Amino acid sequence: MTLHHSNAFTETLALREIDWLDTDTMIEAVDQLMMSSTESDVQLLTETSHHIIGAGGKRVRPRLLLLSYLALGGTDIDYVLPVAASLELVHTASVVHDDINDHGVLRRGRPSINAKWGRTFALLTGDFLFTKVYELMADYSSVNRVFAVSTKALVEGETLQAAAVKEGNFTPDVYLRVIALKTAELFRASTLSGAILAGATPSQQDSLSEFGFKVGMAFQIMDDVLDITGNTEQLGKTAGLDLQQGKGFTNITDPTANDPMARIKTEMMKGDRLEQASAQANHFIESALEDLDGVPDSAPKDKLIELAHQVIDRTH
Ligand code: IPE
Ligand code: IPE
Ligand code: MG
Ligand code: MG
Repeated sequence: MTLHHSNAFTETLALREIDWLDTDTMIEAVDQLMMSSTESDVQLLTETSHHIIGAGGKRVRPRLLLLSYLALGGTDIDYVLPVAASLELVHTASVVHDDINDHGVLRRGRPSINAKWGRTFALLTGDFLFTKVYELMADYSSVNRVFAVSTKALVEGETLQAAAVKEGNFTPDVYLRVIALKTAELFRASTLSGAILAGATPSQQDSLSEFGFKVGMAFQIMDDVLDITGNTEQLGKTAGLDLQQGKGFTNITDPTANDPMARIKTEMMKGDRLEQASAQANHFIESALEDLDGVPDSAPKDKLIELAHQVIDRTH
């Protein structure tokens, strides 16, 4: 599918005629928009924001949004780019704040903002990224509520997790509730926003909403599995086991590095529970794929299916 675009984004990219199904090209446009919209007169905020955005990342959430939009018949990528960028900015703000809470020193293969600039500037950078979301989303009234619901869930999930860790009642049930709130709801927002913006029917919106949520559940479960089985270099963030064994990123020494969740995750994933967790993630993906049954076959739908498979096959 080749669409013609002529607005500022495509011009800065010097792209006249692009294959918008090339996911990397779309993501390049999302990245450019995130970079340009986080320029501040206060140079430090530009520096810290560009440090974390420029470090890359998988960009799973904007990919899900853009592909959902195309799969449901949307054709104007320029129109949805600000929403895709906003979604990734919400996620980016959440990891910047997460590294304060978890004492994370490495993020996306770079020192975390917390490690490089300290807690105050990490906190303010996360806040700054959120203000940019307000700005970018101002004209998208149909999806503003979706963003509100998912960002509220994120904060509730992080709070529930910290409270459960503190009270020593981090049970498997609490775990599922936490990951639903802190991660899967933002995935739901990705696919649901794409469907809404494409003008999908309410039943198609529901299907995409469920699809995104389940992919998000699988994604966080695999993130926790990888935290145990993966290595720091591949993940670009300190793997839990490496951390416990004192094998944290050696270039950055942070004596306070101490994520209380690292111990709990290791405990939770003991014995055959690691296999059980992978099986559970597989199950979520199988069920997610069934949610796509009612979506007409198309190239973007194939890419959505491929992305869902990658969530359980990934190594980083
Ligand atoms: C990390 O998310 C936080 C989780 C919800 C597990 P990602 O794994 O999507 O992080 P990046 O954006 O690729 O760095
Ligand atoms: C996911 O939790 C983070 C957010 C939803 C913000 P983790 O604390 O497990 O994420 P990583 O492993 O540090 O990326
Ligand atoms: Mg955390
Ligand atoms: Mg963390």
